[in-house]
Amino acid sequence: MSSSPAGAGRETRVTVPAIREKKSRQEKITCLTAYDYPTARLVDEAGVDIILVGDSLGMVVLGYENTLPVTLEEMLHHTRAVRRAVRRALVVADMPFGTFHLGADVTVANALRFVKEAGAEAVKIEGGEKRVELILRLVEAEIPVMAHIGLTPQSVHAFGGFKVQGKSLPAAEALLRDARAVEAAGAFSLVLEGIPVEVAEWITREVRIPTIGIGAGPHCDGQVLVLHDLLGLNFGPQPKFARRYADLQLSIAEAVRAFCADVAGGRFPSDAESYHLPAEMREQWLARNSR
Ligand code: KIV
Repeated sequence: MSSSPAGAGRETRVTVPAIREKKSRQEKITCLTAYDYPTARLVDEAGVDIILVGDSLGMVVLGYENTLPVTLEEMLHHTRAVRRAVRRALVVADMPFGTFHLGADVTVANALRFVKEAGAEAVKIEGGEKRVELILRLVEAEIPVMAHIGLTPQSVHAFGGFKVQGKSLPAAEALLRDARAVEAAGAFSLVLEGIPVEVAEWITREVRIPTIGIGAGPHCDGQVLVLHDLLGLNFGPQPKFARRYADLQLSIAEAVRAFCADVAGGRFPSDAESYHLPAEMREQWLARNSR
């Protein structure tokens, strides 16, 4: 092909093969969630490898109790905003609950919308062995798949809460079977969430695709966090595994309080923050209004 695609040459984009190669070079992979234009732009410009438009959107942005109510339309809307912001990172969209439960044809149709209408470069799907057929079909349709096993939040009712998984030998072995199954089906990477360090290390050694951990210890090939946990912009208890690198709740509350105090005290807006008539009109204006 001789013509260069739009946007080519701006900066080397992170691709699916590049993510896989990072594991062979033993380079750690960074992944963060983002759900809108400004945060996606900041995260991308700071150099993260993968931006995940996670269905955690439901909890951290839309105020739902869990991720189950998130709809395909909501995910598409937010993925489009992220897409408009991102120049370098790989954009992965999460398939929300209910969009891959009605058979492979519907799953592929929904995933195609993420790619065609929202510009995602891959989709993430929760579940292990039981998603093999879907992963095969998505990969056959040229849609790269990030798999996700362990404490999969969409299984909250089945698990009876957000509970660490893989804590017994049979449970750990089942997770390894899941990991091997999604790898064999063609997933290009695998999120390991809420599982013991030792189990995550074992799975990471046993599969060739990169593992990306969240609450799965330091031995995974990469790490993912929900951006709002990292920024201190979440409500409720901070998860044990999430490190807070900033306190934006405090910064935002301070900024808003300062604005309110300035308005109440007549200190905002200042003259420099106001528009004036041109000088010649100003005099006429003053003369007219002083009559
Ligand atoms: O929805 C999400 O943000 C996720 C990550 C935490 C892996 O699934």
